[in-house]
Amino acid sequence: MTRTSIKPVLAVLAGQPVTPAPIWLMRQAGRYLPEYRQLRAKAGDFMTLCFTPALAAEVTLQPIRRFGFDAAILFSDILVIPHALGQRLHFAEGEGPRLERFGPADFARMDPHAAGNALAPIAETVARVRSDLPAGVTLIGFAGAPWTVASYMVAGGSSAETEDLRRFAATHPVECDHLVDTLVEATTAYLVAQVRAGAEVLQLFESWAATIPAPLVSRYSVDPIRRIIEAVRRQCPAMPFIVFPRGAGLHLPLYAAATGANAIGVDYQTRLETIRQHVPATMATQGNLDPMVLAVGGPSQDRAIEAILSETRGHPHIFNLGHGIRQETPVEHVARMISQIRTTR
Ligand code: CP3
Repeated sequence: MTRTSIKPVLAVLAGQPVTPAPIWLMRQAGRYLPEYRQLRAKAGDFMTLCFTPALAAEVTLQPIRRFGFDAAILFSDILVIPHALGQRLHFAEGEGPRLERFGPADFARMDPHAAGNALAPIAETVARVRSDLPAGVTLIGFAGAPWTVASYMVAGGSSAETEDLRRFAATHPVECDHLVDTLVEATTAYLVAQVRAGAEVLQLFESWAATIPAPLVSRYSVDPIRRIIEAVRRQCPAMPFIVFPRGAGLHLPLYAAATGANAIGVDYQTRLETIRQHVPATMATQGNLDPMVLAVGGPSQDRAIEAILSETRGHPHIFNLGHGIRQETPVEHVARMISQIRTTR
């Protein structure tokens, strides 16, 4: 179909192919943008940026103004949930997230309702962005999926293979189930608040899907994601969801079939053609372009984009990267990508 009054991102999520494909980029508000770096320096630290609605709304809108993307993604972080639940978080300069050291007993005491009003400033950001957004641009809210968020909570920061969480799941299965249940409940309330404030689509990031032991994929990832989606939709009927299980490999069709997602986010290690064969015709795909290709630019960028456009022609697809944009990406490469997508028929 060609563009009509329904927002292109929403049309794709309803199962319609749209040409040209709508575009946004994971981490589109971030350090590759000079205007972001400037505001970030002014705010001082990342958490201040996340919890100050005027600043977070401005950062959310920066890439929309500069590039005219089809969607804005709320500027926040998946780790505001543990912070709101009482596990304090800060971002050390150039080192990534640092969370307060919590053990099994601390997680056992955690109350999903404790997040309460701590996240109210983020709903306020959503409301501000929604009222300033150009017509046709869709506002995406988001949260981390429980396994991914728990991996940071248990390790106190980033870990390449989620060793601490896998150890916790093996040694403290009851406490691990409880932690995941706590996150399902807190995440549901947080997402419902985003929708009430104006989010039109929700994305769940399962960034560490590749690390989940195969026998635990349903219990700790697919089921919790499905429970969140069902619980949100009980309060916000028919809410569209994008589920991005990065590195899920052969489990991707399970996420597509069993979570209730409208779209499945595809990393850059997976062929779109392969995924297409395993998902219903009306299910949308999103992503797949290697962020390194966009950072490098030139003819290899043009060819990689052309390949994705031809693989997705006639199918509902949202153009995006297979993971977040790299910090060193020149802004000219992003502008060139958008003009190629919008002029290809
Ligand atoms: O996409 C967007 O533009 C919206 C904002 C957004 C951020 N983080 C801002 C951010 C979103 C959607 C996220 C999600 C997020 N956060 C994920 C899932 C996506 C993924 O990348 O797999 C994860 C795992 C996190 C946790 C996190 N936040 C880490 C590990 C780090 C440090 C690594 C880094 O890039 O510095 C962050 C910090 C962070 N979140 C930054 C931004 C713009 C950089 C902070 C800075 O400005 O110094």
